[in-house]
Amino acid sequence: MTGSLRVLKNNQLMIRGKKLNSRFFFAPVNTGFTENNLPTEKLIDFHQERSSSYMGINYVGNIAVGEQYKSNGGTLTLQPNTPEWKSLVNNIKYDGCLSGIQLACRYYKNDAQRSWRVENKTLTIHKLREFISSLEKKQIDKIFKSFIESAQTALVYGFDVIQIHAAHGYFLSLLLNEKINTRKDQYSIDNHGGLFQLIQDLRSLSSEYLIDMRFSCIEGISNDNHEWAMRKSQIMTLEQAGLDIISLSAGMYDLSRKLIYPSKNDGYGVYINFAKELLDCTDVAINVSGNFWNLSPLIDAEERLTFGVCRPLIADPDFVKKSLTGDLNNINHCNRSGYCHYFTQGKSYLSCKVNPKLNH
Ligand SMILES: Cc1cc2nc3c(=O)[nH]c(=O)nc-3n(C[C@H](O)[C@H](O)[C@H](O)COP(=O)(O)O)c2cc1C
Ligand code: SF4
Repeated sequence: MTGSLRVLKNNQLMIRGKKLNSRFFFAPVNTGFTENNLPTEKLIDFHQERSSSYMGINYVGNIAVGEQYKSNGGTLTLQPNTPEWKSLVNNIKYDGCLSGIQLACRYYKNDAQRSWRVENKTLTIHKLREFISSLEKKQIDKIFKSFIESAQTALVYGFDVIQIHAAHGYFLSLLLNEKINTRKDQYSIDNHGGLFQLIQDLRSLSSEYLIDMRFSCIEGISNDNHEWAMRKSQIMTLEQAGLDIISLSAGMYDLSRKLIYPSKNDGYGVYINFAKELLDCTDVAINVSGNFWNLSPLIDAEERLTFGVCRPLIADPDFVKKSLTGDLNNINHCNRSGYCHYFTQGKSYLSCKVNPKLNH
């Protein structure tokens, strides 16, 4: 192993001197459990329940890097020096679980679309391209600066891992898309949308914390093979800027939402082969999420592979613990109702009928 990652004798991963309890992470979820732009008791409790000696990293997110960059009204921004944020981080760090935060910028001017249906794909892409090219350089400078400032605040709170959201059609992912980013300045596609510099700037804040970047392996705009080849090559370059974890998801919120939340029919561990390919051309930990409803096949997976789990942990906060201790009969399984997509259904916060605590 090279760089920041070590695999200990018992196969435990250690990154930048921080030991991971396990290779199973709670993937970022925008819950809407907020009040006055602060985490509520419900959010703190929600994350504490999903932190244990069986969980590697528990991500809070997404957290917008500025008011104008929020995904929706329930999205948080970081506020310095508040008891609510302190309590949230401390409760996640319970039993050695690492605390992660996903920092994000939704492209402003265009509201997040509630409906799953894409009205007109070509027109949507055209609008996104126009939006990216219309931005003055100083507007993008400001967004990048906001990422750094939010990361600084997160580090003061003691977050162990900062995940930069460069997936799902969020602002940074648009800069990585050749069909959308036609800029010719430092944010051009040839310059990886400026993300190399962003990672270097984040790295210079401190060598203690883990930098993770979440990418969509495919976005559903052009051919999958072509999209993946492009993304893989971008990832290989960006790793060199100082990433510790590369996280894979898929899809774009306004164009191919179904890829973000794959259905049962898409199959088990639907993106795992993309992650396995990255093992051959990178040196850091790789995380992949999407349809891991049974953890047994993953126990003996390649040592650098880690797994993001979302809906199974919404349905049952002890899903990972029960899976790893063989308490399989007592798992409250996610039934893929889609009820947790609260924003699409015009609701303001997360609910799940399978989980009595979230059945509201
Ligand atoms: C209600 C809900 C909210 C989500 N919010 C985010 C988010 O804020 N950021 C993000 O990167 N992914 C988000 N996701 C996607 C998950 O992190 C995960 O990638 C996806 O659900 C697939 O994993 P699963 O099959 O284990 O559920 C969300 C998923 C759900 C169900
Ligand atoms: S609401 Fe439905 S899809 Fe979402 S976690 Fe609960 S059971 Fe699963």
